[in-house]
Amino acid sequence: MTITEAGPHSTPGGTPEKRGMNLTLRVWRQQGPTAKGKMVTYKVTDISPDMSFLEMLDVLNEQLIMQGDDPVAFDHDCREGICGMCGLMINGQAHGPQQTTTCQLHMRSFSDGDSIDIEPWRASAFPVIKDLAVDRRAFDRIIQAGGYISVPTGTAPEAHSTPVPKKDSDNAFDAATCIGCGACVAACPNASSMLFTAAKVTHLGLLPQGQPERNDRVVNMVHQQDLEGFGGCTNIGECSAACPKGISMETISRLNHDLLGALRAGARPKS
Ligand code: SF4
Ligand code: FES
Repeated sequence: MTITEAGPHSTPGGTPEKRGMNLTLRVWRQQGPTAKGKMVTYKVTDISPDMSFLEMLDVLNEQLIMQGDDPVAFDHDCREGICGMCGLMINGQAHGPQQTTTCQLHMRSFSDGDSIDIEPWRASAFPVIKDLAVDRRAFDRIIQAGGYISVPTGTAPEAHSTPVPKKDSDNAFDAATCIGCGACVAACPNASSMLFTAAKVTHLGLLPQGQPERNDRVVNMVHQQDLEGFGGCTNIGECSAACPKGISMETISRLNHDLLGALRAGARPKS
């Protein structure tokens, strides 16, 4: 905002600067995991189009705190699109109208006067902790079930003595970009976690270092996602369309291929 004698929204040349946006927010408020939640309407004013969506929520929270009200709880950490902590349903879309993380969504994607519905991820495997914050530890347990390697990888020079085909390394790196945000689950009508699990299975399964546990990894991780209560994959593709890292449906095909091979080879879940 430029402050001049002509007023807070005028440029030095006298041209009126575009004012910020006035928005109506309908936010899911829920005191705790077992409390009944409801949508509550708030107004925010003079929101810059250059703010991120989370900065806009910061403005709302400052307003609530100044009024003596409880601020809205929501998850965030890096605010750079890399940690996977943020995640909101925005007007019914996981991470909102752009294929990016909630922290990298900017208010220029909205217009002055808009009403915006803001809800937590909706999946029984991601129970609400408070307001917009959900418990995503189910993902951690899927990783614990097999998302690791146990082979000694040696020192850096030794790594160069293990050749990896370019195509495999590219596909492994693509799968490894999954940040565990959970948008795939939230976007899926079945609340399936297949895209997440497939990304984690694939990025290790394509590399030489991931081979010793390859069969056990896939059966145990798929078994764990079933135990957590995620739904089955029916190839709808909403997961990939919502994924901020563009993890492809092909990754799920790779998981299914690995799973069949592992079951045929006699691998069975640990528990
Ligand atoms: S696959 Fe994509 S949407 Fe799903 S957790 Fe990973 S980054 Fe998020
Ligand atoms: S806060 Fe880290 S990805 Fe959004």
